[in-house]
Amino acid sequence: MFGLKGKSLLTLHDFTPEQIGYLLDLAAELKAKKRMGVKGNLLAGKNVALIFEKPSTRTRCAFTVACNDEGAFPEYLGKDDIQLGHKESVADTARVLGRFFDAIEFRGFSQEVVTDLAKYSGVPVYNGLTDLYHPTQILADLLTMKEHLGTLKGKKFVFVGDGRFNMANSLLIGCAKMGVDIVVLAPEALWPDKNHVAVCEGYAKESGSKVTITSDIESVKGADVIYTDVWFSMGEEEKAKERIALLQPYQVNSEMMQKTGNPNVLFMHCLPAVKGYEVTEEVFESKQSVVFDEAENRMHTIKAVMVATLS
Ligand code: CP
Ligand code: NVA
Repeated sequence: MFGLKGKSLLTLHDFTPEQIGYLLDLAAELKAKKRMGVKGNLLAGKNVALIFEKPSTRTRCAFTVACNDEGAFPEYLGKDDIQLGHKESVADTARVLGRFFDAIEFRGFSQEVVTDLAKYSGVPVYNGLTDLYHPTQILADLLTMKEHLGTLKGKKFVFVGDGRFNMANSLLIGCAKMGVDIVVLAPEALWPDKNHVAVCEGYAKESGSKVTITSDIESVKGADVIYTDVWFSMGEEEKAKERIALLQPYQVNSEMMQKTGNPNVLFMHCLPAVKGYEVTEEVFESKQSVVFDEAENRMHTIKAVMVATLS
């Protein structure tokens, strides 16, 4: 459907708005099916390798449960279980895994590794997070926004925090492609790469949305969604002190939520959250917070990706 069979999800750059829209609709259908307690066999007989160089709760469990729900078998391969890129080249591991498995998920540091896995394995590869992108997270975020806001087009989405890492990069692509006005609100030192922004501005032009990069906190005015992520990502722990100093004024707190002027503004976060840093406990636990709907949707959207690309 929509040219998705056999396709890898390495970055949302490679997906059209129609393909993204189809995955969101399929995820909603699969979610309704699961809610009715119906077990399926859409992935029966498939074997899926789950490679994790970095830790994970949501992504790992989403892939595992999604496989189990639809009859596939997931095999977890942690960083000490295989030699990927150390004693064996990525290309060689990819060619071996491609002979055993129907698909491969990879979470790690380098986007190049996930790209090479796809290039050499010959099976669909899913990016479960790299330093550059986190595309499966964005599908869950868009589904959650659709559920709570009704539509995506014309909504105002503000990402607050570290604007130059996987979450901001991927949200820029996903929002711009789907017609959501996106603001990346960050201190200038943490703004996204200019070339990346230019590409996303191109997507926004096509969808009729807007991309804004700013350090002005007043830009939260009129937001439908305030979204944040950790101030130092996995692998960046040594930057903690510097980031806390830079990002303290950008904490999502009640004052910022009020500044939006929208009493129904949603709070979103990919999780895990470090409460007291990027978000206060009060906002995290508030009625506007939809973080656990968002976490649940990781599973339904990841299931949709596997069903669309494998069955
Ligand atoms: N949001 C997310 O990717 O969570 P995990 O790191 O727990 O997989
Ligand atoms: N930016 C975060 C996202 C976690 C889901 C990280 O890379 O650690």
